[in-house]
Amino acid sequence: MNTDKTWRERQEQPATAAFNEQIAPTLSPESKQVGAILRGLVSKRKLANRRRYTSRLVDVMLSLMLRKMLLGSLLAAAVHLAGQTTEVPKTWDEEALKDWATPIAALGVRPGHFSVQEYYASRVDNYRTYPVYAAGREPDGYWERLQHAKPEPLIDRGKLNTKSDWIAAGKRVFEEYDLVAFRHYDPEIIDEFHKATSPRLTRVVPRKDGTIAGARWVVTDRGLALTPENCTMCHRRTLADGSFLDGPGMSDTRAFFVTGMIAGAGLSSIPLTGDSPVIANWRSFAVPWIDHDIHEQIKTMGPAYGPAFQASVGPNIAPRWNGSVFYPTKIPDLIALKGQKYIDHTGTINCAGWATSCDMSPW
Ligand code: HEC
Repeated sequence: MNTDKTWRERQEQPATAAFNEQIAPTLSPESKQVGAILRGLVSKRKLANRRRYTSRLVDVMLSLMLRKMLLGSLLAAAVHLAGQTTEVPKTWDEEALKDWATPIAALGVRPGHFSVQEYYASRVDNYRTYPVYAAGREPDGYWERLQHAKPEPLIDRGKLNTKSDWIAAGKRVFEEYDLVAFRHYDPEIIDEFHKATSPRLTRVVPRKDGTIAGARWVVTDRGLALTPENCTMCHRRTLADGSFLDGPGMSDTRAFFVTGMIAGAGLSSIPLTGDSPVIANWRSFAVPWIDHDIHEQIKTMGPAYGPAFQASVGPNIAPRWNGSVFYPTKIPDLIALKGQKYIDHTGTINCAGWATSCDMSPW
């Protein structure tokens, strides 16, 4: 795929043109300034190809955000411009997945995947989640409503028909989806996060709307649980005025560390039977097929592992499973991802090969 051509084609899309016409003239100098800072974070290597598009898109997004209209407007415009029906691509396609992941360095083979049968036979977990509030910030009656709430589907396939329905559903999944394996039904931790007066929680500066970044309530068939945020933990940026912008990598690590409090820092959600916590940590990052793997030391470093893990979490970087706690993975800006061939230098995924990956980013 010719990436340049793709960008040009995208610029010529009616939706982009309409955004420019309707929203660009309303940009404030403030949004332009923040836009410039964000653009500084865009990879220089890719900048030449996408500068014009990115700057326009970032400014448009910021303008929307500053008006508290973010995706609401985007969606309204998308409904208007995108037509009423859409074809939903098949999520799991073995043929298309064959060359999606690039071969692993040193091994020269590509990672394998679930088969299509395994993928579609897996159990679906589908629950809405709700914000957790800092002490004194919970709206009146909120806690009582949650006690009596029934489980609600995060996504209701039967009600999704138009392109705008799918975009709105994607936005909700992005905002509400949790890390399912780390849910807690234990009354003690639920009480701690509801009261939010414990020393470790009062240290966390709440978001502008009073919510605690990184934590959610989920109502499941088993009852109410405390659960960590998923996508927004890493792909939500806090701006100088305390508001946030979804898409670029995290700028502060609050959500990540609150998630750690709930999940238990460092452990993969799928430890193998019999793994001690230390071995589970090692397995999260080990590269056993290379000599002198730097991760071998995880087995013997003891309490020094904690600070090493913490040091690998920062603005735009995260120690992602199967990445490295010593070489944390850069978090891509999802706003600028569409149309890219690879995600910066990591190049582990061929975005151009499988349209349902990078092109499914909500922007
Ligand atoms: C722990 C932090 C973290 C969480 C949580 C997270 N991401 Fe990411 N995401 C990353 C990193 C790091 C990369 C870059 C991976 C690379 O360079 O290979 C990435 C890549 C991506 C990409 C581009 C590559 C691809 O696979 O298509 C998309 C789209 C994306 N994330 C969306 C999401 C969504 C949606 C969620 C929630 C379901 C989510 N992410 C949760 C850190 C995270």
